[in-house]
Amino acid sequence: MKGSDFGDDFQWGVAIAAIQNEGAYNIDGKGLTIWDVFARKQGKIKNGDKPSHACEFYYRYKDDILLAKALGFKVFRFSIAWARILPEGTGKPNKAGLLFYHKVIDECLELGLIPYVTLYHWDLPQALELEGGWTSHLMLKWFTRFATICMHEYGNKVKNWIVLNEPMGFTTLGYMVGVHAPGRIGVDNFFNAVHNAALSQAEIGRLIRSEVKDAHIGTTFSCSEVMPYTQKEEDIQAANRMDILLNRLYIEPVLGKGYPYHEGFNLMDKLHLHTKAWKYTERLTFDFDFIGVQNYFALTVKHNPLIPYIQASEVKATSRKVPCTAFGWEINSDSFYRMVKRFWDYGNIKEIIISEGGAYFKDHLVNGVVNDAHRIQYYQDYLQALLKAKSEGVNVTGYFAWTLTDNFEWAEGYKARFGLVHVDFKTQLRTIKNSGYWWRKFVSS
Ligand code: FCB
Repeated sequence: MKGSDFGDDFQWGVAIAAIQNEGAYNIDGKGLTIWDVFARKQGKIKNGDKPSHACEFYYRYKDDILLAKALGFKVFRFSIAWARILPEGTGKPNKAGLLFYHKVIDECLELGLIPYVTLYHWDLPQALELEGGWTSHLMLKWFTRFATICMHEYGNKVKNWIVLNEPMGFTTLGYMVGVHAPGRIGVDNFFNAVHNAALSQAEIGRLIRSEVKDAHIGTTFSCSEVMPYTQKEEDIQAANRMDILLNRLYIEPVLGKGYPYHEGFNLMDKLHLHTKAWKYTERLTFDFDFIGVQNYFALTVKHNPLIPYIQASEVKATSRKVPCTAFGWEINSDSFYRMVKRFWDYGNIKEIIISEGGAYFKDHLVNGVVNDAHRIQYYQDYLQALLKAKSEGVNVTGYFAWTLTDNFEWAEGYKARFGLVHVDFKTQLRTIKNSGYWWRKFVSS
């Protein structure tokens, strides 16, 4: 397999996100985000790590963008920190923040990299969280203001816009189970967050359409194939419920199908009632130019009456003795292939981009070399699976590797390394891993 097997216009890219890379958390007028505040609470993040300095992309953006170019990529995906643009979430824009992203965009354009810009990659301004955050119906108003500013500032230079990064991630982990910022729990918070995210996603899509000429508009979804542990009916039903919560709940409203129903799954009935979902089917729909698909693991579940709301629990990859990453996430490129096909089979998605893909393995820097053979194998297998889907007619137009440099991996802190470039977080020294060199060869082949 060669890079050129995907066609000359296939968009090979690499992705990062503001809070995971920038650092400079209180510099040049930036406001605090929910992750700055969450990280200060004891026990929330492994090793007590904080995103305060991360890998200093704020200061090293020129070097890092040059690295992306040197590794052969054509696309650079990054996100805008809302709290740099609007330190209070609303109100007056911060000039220094606006300027920073002009510099990042200009650097990309000068090097011939196409910028793909994510508006929301999980770093809500803390000022908005104090007003309710994603549980508040005001989110749409706040987001509209932030997005409007971004479109006016950057819309003539940036055509590729991503509204949300993985709404499943920030609603479930942040507002239902509380293991991510802002650390809130409970079904009511969850329902509100899901609904406000879905509504904002479609409405901001429409806003970009009206503000930016020739915009190419997308949004991204995490996804995981959910397999029943046995063929017993109760395990099959458990897998169906989990599939709704991880996958269908997020993509289906956008495609005009509303929130899913499932017989006997009371949580969904409650969500419909709580959000008065029947009123919103149309407003939740938007004809995105592309859908970003992000598949990090496959999941196997069994019926478990002790688990509230969902009565299902995971049967871990480690206990099933199947290949997995250092996170214990199952590696399964066939499952990735099936998920890509499943998105395509909805029938009304025009274009798919794999807007993130990558894996955490324990890397060792020895004499200036990181020989991350597992990661190279991972990419080879997943790209082979993608090529198969493409050859069967799926209109997949790009693949963005996650991620350029090792960075702040949310609640896992700095230990979980996904980069193609190793970072020594004490000295900020960058060392290209063998997977980075592999990508360069692959993309130019
Ligand atoms: C995804 C997130 C991304 C990164 C990877 C490992 O869910 O979108 O920011 O942390 O996981």
